[in-house]
Amino acid sequence: MNKLQGESLNITKQNINRLKELFPEVITEGDKIDFEQLKTVLGQVLEDQHERYQFTWSGKKQAILGAQKPSKGTLRPLIDRSKNFHQTENLYIEGDNLEVLKLLQKSYNGKIKVIYIDPPYNTGKDFVYKDNFANGVQNYLELTGQVDAEGNQLSTNTESNGRFHTDWLNMMYPRLKLARNLLTDDGVIFISIDDSEQEKLKMICNEIFGEQNFLAQVIWERAYSPVNLKKNFSESHDFILVYGKNIHGLESNGLKRTQAANDRYSNPDNDPRGLWKSSDLSVGPAIEKNIYEITTPSGRKVMPPSGYSWRLNKEKFEEYVNDNRIWFGPDGNNVPSIKRFLSEVKDTITPMTIWKYQDVGHSQSASQSLKKLFHDKAYFTYPKPVELVKRVIELYSNPDSIILDFFSGSATTAHATMQLNAEDGGNRKFILVQLPEKLDENSEAFKDGFETICDIGEERIRRAGEKIKEDLDETKLNVLDTGFKVFQLDSSNIREWDVDFDSLEDRLDLFETPFIESRTQLDIVYEIMLKQGLELTDSIDCFLVKGMTVYDIGNGTLFICLEDKINVNIANAIIEKWNHYGRETSSVVLSDAGFAGNDTEKLNCIELLKGAGYPEENILTI
Ligand SMILES: C[S@@+](CC[C@H](N)C(=O)[O-])C[C@H]1O[C@@H](n2cnc3c(N)ncnc32)[C@H](O)[C@@H]1O
Repeated sequence: MNKLQGESLNITKQNINRLKELFPEVITEGDKIDFEQLKTVLGQVLEDQHERYQFTWSGKKQAILGAQKPSKGTLRPLIDRSKNFHQTENLYIEGDNLEVLKLLQKSYNGKIKVIYIDPPYNTGKDFVYKDNFANGVQNYLELTGQVDAEGNQLSTNTESNGRFHTDWLNMMYPRLKLARNLLTDDGVIFISIDDSEQEKLKMICNEIFGEQNFLAQVIWERAYSPVNLKKNFSESHDFILVYGKNIHGLESNGLKRTQAANDRYSNPDNDPRGLWKSSDLSVGPAIEKNIYEITTPSGRKVMPPSGYSWRLNKEKFEEYVNDNRIWFGPDGNNVPSIKRFLSEVKDTITPMTIWKYQDVGHSQSASQSLKKLFHDKAYFTYPKPVELVKRVIELYSNPDSIILDFFSGSATTAHATMQLNAEDGGNRKFILVQLPEKLDENSEAFKDGFETICDIGEERIRRAGEKIKEDLDETKLNVLDTGFKVFQLDSSNIREWDVDFDSLEDRLDLFETPFIESRTQLDIVYEIMLKQGLELTDSIDCFLVKGMTVYDIGNGTLFICLEDKINVNIANAIIEKWNHYGRETSSVVLSDAGFAGNDTEKLNCIELLKGAGYPEENILTI
């Protein structure tokens, strides 16, 4: 029986496999790369200049390697903190997003349609998480005060820090790299930022997502009046960088036409085709054959302005006149224009790159509406407006897409996803990740019982969900998913996966069971699901075999038994269930300690499962 591997997806190995697919000739024995051969294959395009075009900083290499180092952690379900745990398909994950992104690599690879993130802007006032790639989970537990450590604190990244930009880049780079793997081929990432790091962010995004996949640098008008105390400029906008995973064939859903846009249409000549709007007949630059004289019904002779020509050639113009598609004004004396009928325009508008506060809200309106949810108390500073994030999601998601935000703050992305689903009947799901950053003890939120930002985020989703449902028509009430499953980043449930390999044998001898005592079977089941690449929302059912529990994940995709006295009855029951589902492939994970050293029983189980059609690699122990 094969042992289940304890670490999250090994990205280096995945990269080697990709290279192998492209250039099998460069892989030598033991999956090593023959660089000389690779150089030959790549021929002329190889960059061998010492001084070359690149953007680098101290620690970049470490950050790239750090992103590839598998996580030793796990995600533990917190049912009491969740809402509708057993029904919902939304996720709220408490933890450092680097470790969490690593843990999600296998289960959510290529499955996320839209990522929106609003990372710390590095203004000198916000804290920037300091990674320790050697042991990410331990570092996280220490930084968040969950285990004792000396001298480590979540502290602000100030400009006097000699590594101000470096620290921020080292934090962002590995996270963006991992995030890219999660996007679907037609997935899109939106990243909020301001002038503090905009140009550096764009450079690393060009590198990670590819310059050719840059879609836009949106300007969001976040303030509507100047701060007159400022001596030079009062900044009134943020940026949102937008990249596609692969823009080939990518198309936005467009924006729904607003009433204001439709109100610009009228019908002064009672045209039976309905409302229309006039648009210029002249266009630049001038095209010789489209410069001709037009006589208006009143007899006036008009030419296009200098440097311009008419949009239509003479023949087409005549056709338009005969079809009553040219407007010469109420008296027939105006310069002609083209009638564009509302019934003939697309029902969506292509988004422009300046997003005005009138359309998507501003910082103050976002703070106000969040305050309203919390009885007029300001628990979180600078949330983004729901309308802004809703637009982001609307532009590129499908009705059943998964939306990810791994710097989720007050959980605006969850609010926007639920709101949009309520409006258009969609079933989008969200995954939010947030560090359980401790709140200031003097803050209003802390005094009201909130200890971390996660407490605020989770409560916001509860309140926003209820609020959205208040305004919803009865038929949709049961369909809208306002629940969320909470998970918490922690060290592995399995000793062997959590220790350094040097001391492994000695330490394991000390324990009878491989599982950490305080952990539940459900904790272990979710850890196995992540390792096997199943989604955290896949169904978990269980059935009893002579008092022993067998977990049935994803309707027979995976069976798990973690009991003490595993025997052939378990194998037979699993086979029966598998046959019942009639599914082509299935895997089985059994607790090794459950055989209590009875090798014959173990062998019999394997033989039974193999005989029923389970391939050997799908029968695993833990
Ligand atoms: C600018 S706020 C996001 C605000 C959010 N868009 C909203 O509307 O409320 C950035 C958030 O990222 C969180 N954060 C910073 N580093 C993190 C990390 N390593 N893992 C997870 N969350 C992190 C911070 O605690 C903060 O709440």
